[in-house]
Amino acid sequence: MPAPPIDTDLERAAAILKQGGVVAIPTETVYGLAADALNAEAVRRVFAIKGRPADHPVIVHIAGADQLEHWARDIPEAARVLAAHFWPGPLTLVLPRRPEVPDSVTGGQDSVGLRVPAHPLTLELLRRGGFGLAAPSANRFGRVSPTTPAHVAEELDGEVDMILDGGPCPVGVESTIVSLLAPEPVLLRPGGVPLAELEAALGRPIRIARKAAEPDTAEVRAPGTLAAHYAPRTPLCLAEAAALWSRAERLARKGLHIAVLARAPEREGHGDLVLSPMPSDATAYARLLYARLRELDGLGLDLILVEKVPDAAAWLAVADRLKRAAAHCPEALRDEEAP
Ligand code: TXA
Ligand code: MG
Repeated sequence: MPAPPIDTDLERAAAILKQGGVVAIPTETVYGLAADALNAEAVRRVFAIKGRPADHPVIVHIAGADQLEHWARDIPEAARVLAAHFWPGPLTLVLPRRPEVPDSVTGGQDSVGLRVPAHPLTLELLRRGGFGLAAPSANRFGRVSPTTPAHVAEELDGEVDMILDGGPCPVGVESTIVSLLAPEPVLLRPGGVPLAELEAALGRPIRIARKAAEPDTAEVRAPGTLAAHYAPRTPLCLAEAAALWSRAERLARKGLHIAVLARAPEREGHGDLVLSPMPSDATAYARLLYARLRELDGLGLDLILVEKVPDAAAWLAVADRLKRAAAHCPEALRDEEAP
């Protein structure tokens, strides 16, 4: 198949989507792989392209909070409050679904995830098209999400009808997901909106869902909560800051080709290591993370060693993605060896 056109033509994107096509769309978080959410056949094609299991729900992107009623029922006050505060923006609300929402969108569950993305191009597309767009991140299942049109093209080469070019994504990690299915709100996935801001808006604490690392404890079928997700192909391991360099050098001496992703690689003389400096600010770090992992993945290295990030609220989303990316860290490289 020829490479899909990357362009900024909204009308073309809208026409393709109305005909049941699949278009990669920019959002402020990551690129999405979009189809008309009421067209079950088109949504199934999205799943097929991603290689994603059919029983996993996808987020429906809508033009504004005034469309909540078209997709959800029994909408609690908390949803109105959060929508008013954070939409358009990187927040997904899980609400009871209306019966019209296809099972292919909800994974057969009685709920639907909704968000109004803050990217001007996609907002305009939603307004003009008059549709809701079911869109998971535009990567193959389990891989790192794309944050530029070029990432989408290299990931899904030839399989999408168009890539709508909205430039690089300013947030860089996926939306925060909050379930409002029960009286007590639950954080299903940390993301672009910090937990503290949600709690401040609601005036109450939000419980963090039990991790779905063990399938038995899964509260929902949410692929973003699987233990191994958001992973580069190169093995990735985490290291405490204090042990980072000694560990990297020890492994390099054994002949491994290693990249070190650290917030302040101020040291010199790491001749054999690929140094990959990252910002010390959580927001800037998040913006860069997926692009950096993709870059390093292309170098054919043996290992990406990542300095652990601070155990602080502002780093929740980044820490979550790094932990999942490190789920396949080889056993032999996992723990500190004795000095
Ligand atoms: O920032 C984002 O959220 C990006 C952009 C494209 O909007 N989308 C994204 O989609 O990350 P995806 O499919 O890669 O992850 C969406 C997450 C999944 O973990 C999915 O299970 C969860 O949202 N989700 C969607 N609908 C849900 C529902 N009804 N109940 C529970 N989780 C739901
Ligand atoms: Mg995803």
